[in-house]
Amino acid sequence: MQIQDAIEKRRSVRHFTEQKVSEEDIARILKAGTLAPSAHNQQPWFIHVVENEDLKEQIADQLEQTGEEGIQNTARIIKEANVLFVVFEEKTELSVKMQQQSIGALMENMCLEATELGIGSLWIGHILHCEKEVQKIFHEKRKVACALALGYTEKFPSPRPRKNLKDMIKIHDEEESE
Ligand SMILES: Cc1cc2nc3c(=O)[nH]c(=O)nc-3n(C[C@H](O)[C@H](O)[C@H](O)COP(=O)(O)O)c2cc1C
Repeated sequence: MQIQDAIEKRRSVRHFTEQKVSEEDIARILKAGTLAPSAHNQQPWFIHVVENEDLKEQIADQLEQTGEEGIQNTARIIKEANVLFVVFEEKTELSVKMQQQSIGALMENMCLEATELGIGSLWIGHILHCEKEVQKIFHEKRKVACALALGYTEKFPSPRPRKNLKDMIKIHDEEESE
């Protein structure tokens, strides 16, 4: 698959089948993530790869307790996912912005690699609503960054709308006057 295809085909997948993601594919997705650029090449991430149903349930239970509909839907997705990567922030000297941008690059690389492999992915920020509980579940002192749900799907969503490019950019060409 060409990179352009992967970029265009990637979707946030929220329904997964029971088909198992192979260890080989999990390794490929992780590898793609770690090839992402990071500020000062600090690679400020640590990933717990969760295949264990009980652990996924524990995380989902915590999200369910928030009582908010959108977050509860994410909890359902976490339970349904075949694999869940829970991404923590490795402690570095980077600023918060540099740290977060680096983790964003890791995440997008993993989403694109999953797309290339025909595997659905969902980038999950809702996990931050129960950061302390998640740290406890994993016996982690590192801060929680986000999570990535992975699995095969039969429900590929249509593309979500995007703003018009012209409303998001400003070109400064040679003809621009002061
Ligand atoms: C930082 C970040 C956090 C997100 N958190 C969640 C989440 O917790 N639950 C969820 O269902 N979707 C989550 N999403 C997915 C977005 O809703 C989705 O990317 C957006 O609606 C565009 O749809 P698309 O990814 O299919 O293009 C998140 C995406 C990003 C980049």
